[in-house]
Amino acid sequence: MVALQSIFIKAYWSLAALGTLYFLCLAALIHPTAQNYAIYMHKLQLTWFHDLTIPEQFGFAKNQVTPFFIPTPDGERLFAWHVLPLGLYSSHRDPLIQQPTGVSSSPTSTENLRLLTSDPDSHLIIHFHGNAGTVGAAIRPGYLRSLSAAQPSKIHILTIDYRGFGLSSGSPSEEGLITDGLTVVDYALNELNIPPERISLVGQSLGTAVTFAVADRLIDRTPPIEPKAIISIAGFSDMEEIVRTYRAGGVFPILRPLRTYPFLVGWFLQFLRESWDSKTRIAEIVRKSGKANLVLVHAKNDYEIPHDHLETLWISAINATVEGGVSKEWVAENVKTEVFGDESSVSVWQKGEKRIAKHVVNWGGHNNVVSAAGTSVLVAKALGF
Ligand SMILES: *[C@@H]1O[C@H](CO)[C@@H](O)[C@H](O)[C@H]1NC(C)=O
Repeated sequence: MVALQSIFIKAYWSLAALGTLYFLCLAALIHPTAQNYAIYMHKLQLTWFHDLTIPEQFGFAKNQVTPFFIPTPDGERLFAWHVLPLGLYSSHRDPLIQQPTGVSSSPTSTENLRLLTSDPDSHLIIHFHGNAGTVGAAIRPGYLRSLSAAQPSKIHILTIDYRGFGLSSGSPSEEGLITDGLTVVDYALNELNIPPERISLVGQSLGTAVTFAVADRLIDRTPPIEPKAIISIAGFSDMEEIVRTYRAGGVFPILRPLRTYPFLVGWFLQFLRESWDSKTRIAEIVRKSGKANLVLVHAKNDYEIPHDHLETLWISAINATVEGGVSKEWVAENVKTEVFGDESSVSVWQKGEKRIAKHVVNWGGHNNVVSAAGTSVLVAKALGF
C-alpha cells in the first residue's frame, strides 16, 4: 500500500515537473531571439561534417551542381546551388567534368549555366526549402534530382540557403527571407537573362510562404512579373495557424495542451512577431494576376502540417476569382475532384486565364511528397511540358 502510494506521488511530481518544463519552454519562446530560432531552426544545419561546396558529397555527379554566392541588395551573401538535370548532364558530361570543381566565382561562364541560358526551351525552377537544415540536408538532395525527372534535359533548379542558414551570411527574418527570394529571382532575370515565362517558383513547407510572398511582390512591380507557375508543396495558411496546429517532429502538438484555455493560446499568439500570411498573399496574387498558374500539393498523411492548411489556401485563392467571394460549401459543390487511384485526388478551378490546381497526395507525408513520382509529373506539366 505504501509502495503504491509512493508510486502515485512520484508520478504526480514527474507530471508537475513536465508541466512546468512545458510552460518554461513556451515562456522562453516569447523572447524574440528564441522565437526566431524556434521558427527558422537555422542553427540546426543537419549537414555537419559535410562540405556544401562539394555537392558530390550529397550524391550528385561530378560537377552536376554549381555552388556559388549571390549578393543581396542589403549586403548579405546567399549560398546557391544550380542543379543540372541528369539527362542534360549525361549528354554533355565531357565538357562538364573538365571544369574546375568547387565554388564558382563566375557562375555565368560555366558550361552548366550556359546550358541553361542557351536553350530557349529550358526552364528554371527557383526552389525555396523548408525551415532547418541547408540545401544539402536530409531529403533535399534527393528531390533536387527528382523534381526534374519528368523532363530531364529541360528543367534546371536554382536553390539557396536563406540568410543565416548554412554558408549564407546574416540571420533570418520574414522580410529578410523575402529579400533573399527576390534576389534569386532578380539574378535569374537580370544576370542569366531568363524571361519570367521560363521561371517557376517551387516551395516546400516554410518555403511555400517565401514563394507566395515573393510572387506577390513580383506582381506589384511595373511592369508586373509573373512566373510561369507558382507551386506550393506542404504549405500553410499563416504563422498563427501553423503555431496552433504544428506538430513538432510530426508528434507533439505544441499548443494542444492549452486547448481548453483559449485565452492562454490567444495570449501566447500575441507574441508572434511575424505573420507569414500566405492565405492573404495567395488571394492577392490571384486577384492582381492576369494569368495565375497556381499548384497546391499536400499529402493527406502530413502529420507536421495538417492538410486543412491546403484547404484554407485553396479556398482563399478561388475566393479571389469570384465577385463577392465564395464559401467552402460552394467550392465543394462547384469544383469537381478527379481521383487518381491510390495516388492522389486532383481538383482544378479555372477562371479566364487563372488556373488553381489542388493535388491531395495520399502518401509521402510532409517531406517525401516532394520526391514522389506523381509530384515530378505535375511539376513538369505546370511548367508547360
Ligand atoms: C472572400 O472574398 C471576400 C471579398 O470578395 C472577402 O470579404 C472574404 O473575407 C473572403 N473570404 C475568404 C475565406 O477568404
